[in-house]
Amino acid sequence: MRNWIVGCAVGAVLVVGSAAQDKAKPGDAAKGKDVFDQCSVCHNADTEETKVGPGLKGLFKHAKLANGKPVNEANVREKINDGGNGMPAYGDQLSDQDKNDVIAYLKTL
Ligand code: HEC
Repeated sequence: MRNWIVGCAVGAVLVVGSAAQDKAKPGDAAKGKDVFDQCSVCHNADTEETKVGPGLKGLFKHAKLANGKPVNEANVREKINDGGNGMPAYGDQLSDQDKNDVIAYLKTL
């Protein structure tokens, strides 16, 4: 007896194209500096010296993050969103705009 799975599985054409246009604008480093106030309890901005987390001076001049991933906007954003190893997850706590701004600020360090 043969069981034919005539799987007309999921012909699902996902219509993802909903135009939920990201309202967040490109990062503004000056605003990001304010956002960074809540980060500065754990991070120095003007040295690489560790406070609770690593000092973030020159972050974007480094080749890699502590997690081994290359330093770029996507990976820094992922770290901010997901946290880990003592870093709180800010995924739900900061708006996309705040994240854009704080990343723009980190780039100036
Ligand atoms: C409670 C302390 C704490 C706060 C607040 C905090 N961080 Fe962190 N952060 C850490 C720790 C600890 C690490 C190291 C995690 C690791 O090694 O993976 C870290 C790592 C990072 C890294 C990766 C650095 C690297 O070289 O790998 C970035 C970027 C970062 N934090 C940005 C931020 C930003 C932006 C904020 C504010 C929105 C913030 N952090 C708030 C503790 C904190």
